[in-house]
Amino acid sequence: MVLALTHENETQIRIVKIKEGTVIDHISAGRALDVLQILGITGKEGSVVSIGMNISSSRIATKDIVKIEDRHLKDSEVDKIALVAPDATINTIRDYKVEKKTRVVLPHTITNVIECPNPRCVTNKEREPIEAKYEVVSDHPIKLKCNYCWTLIDEKDIILQFAG
Ligand code: CTP
Ligand code: ZN
Repeated sequence: MVLALTHENETQIRIVKIKEGTVIDHISAGRALDVLQILGITGKEGSVVSIGMNISSSRIATKDIVKIEDRHLKDSEVDKIALVAPDATINTIRDYKVEKKTRVVLPHTITNVIECPNPRCVTNKEREPIEAKYEVVSDHPIKLKCNYCWTLIDEKDIILQFAG
């Protein structure tokens, strides 16, 4: 019986549990690498990062998951994750336990996080630029609209900016 249980668990575990750090769960399938890019994680930092992509899940059809050991996220980082993974759950892990679980929230308006891709937009003026502001016009997939020039910004534009 014990053997059977062990065997069952072994076939179910895809990524090991972590002792300390952050588990970003319910990332839209295929977006794990974008989340890492937003967080500036390249793998060269030397810390342990586990990535699962296109995993079957009950809540959303398939999902990605990222486990970052020994790192806790700032609120501003969590807000950025919402831009590419609007259903993500951020689990703070301490001593193997889920100490805190939060859903990311996509606000109705976004200020200053990204630049308007329209070079002639007033928010890009070299002298006296105006603070960039966007309205979230759609969340699946995400689309933003610049408040000043009405340029539409999609997920690809957003990810490209974080790559820079
Ligand atoms: N997790 C982990 N290491 C731990 C504890 C949890 O990697 N020490 C991971 C789990 O594998 C899971 C996520 O963190 O992917 C959330 O854990 P938990 O809340 O226990 O799982 P669920 O109840 O399935 O989460 P949810 O309800 O958010 O789907
Ligand atoms: Zn603009």
